[in-house]
Amino acid sequence: MSAATPDAYFDTIYADDDPFGYRERWYEARKRALLLASLPAKRFGRVWEIGCSNGELTAELATRCDRLLATDLSARAVALATGRTRMHAHVDVQQARHPDTWPEGRFDLIVFSEVGYYLDADTLTHMARRLTASLQGDGVLVACHWLAPFAQAPLSGGDVHRLLRRALGLQRVFGYADADIRLDGFAVDATSVAQRAGLR
Ligand SMILES: C[S@@+](CC[C@H](N)C(=O)[O-])C[C@H]1O[C@@H](n2cnc3c(N)ncnc32)[C@H](O)[C@@H]1O
Repeated sequence: MSAATPDAYFDTIYADDDPFGYRERWYEARKRALLLASLPAKRFGRVWEIGCSNGELTAELATRCDRLLATDLSARAVALATGRTRMHAHVDVQQARHPDTWPEGRFDLIVFSEVGYYLDADTLTHMARRLTASLQGDGVLVACHWLAPFAQAPLSGGDVHRLLRRALGLQRVFGYADADIRLDGFAVDATSVAQRAGLR
């Protein structure tokens, strides 16, 4: 398969409020914990989460930033994420299909988790360049994807991370991988967490 996953697929799966098992599966809770632990700052200014689904990761990111934009192409996912984060006035959940729609301004953190493989390679390459342009000079982009290929996705998680590494034009500043997932952090500025804290 090479074309992007059709929007109708997401309309269908969101007949279920938690189609990926984010609320119940230890696999998903562990993956969120790995992603959140990898972030190089305790707190960020402006954050963008792309493909927020029902808002489970969104709710945790909300505790680490001043402003959070969460976007998803599915109206139902947007409604679920809005409900999940209603206690956080600084979270803005919007329906948007990327890269057709693109937010204004730059972000201190962009979270690109479990969404890249729904795009075709040309669109993802185009999107990677725009993502880099949407990062602040000291910003970080974290990408995280399931590695096993699956029928609804034109790209595998491995394809996504190889493509991002080439197309973002950023340095890879941290990473984690196991048999199931790959997580990579990309930034312009490779100053380490310890260096920022004056420890080295
Ligand atoms: C597997 S969920 C990821 C949820 C969350 N980011 C996480 O890692 O826990 C992927 C979501 O991306 C959304 N999505 C897929 N392609 C998209 C696109 N081109 N623009 C915006 N959202 C998209 C889907 O509707 C779906 O809700």
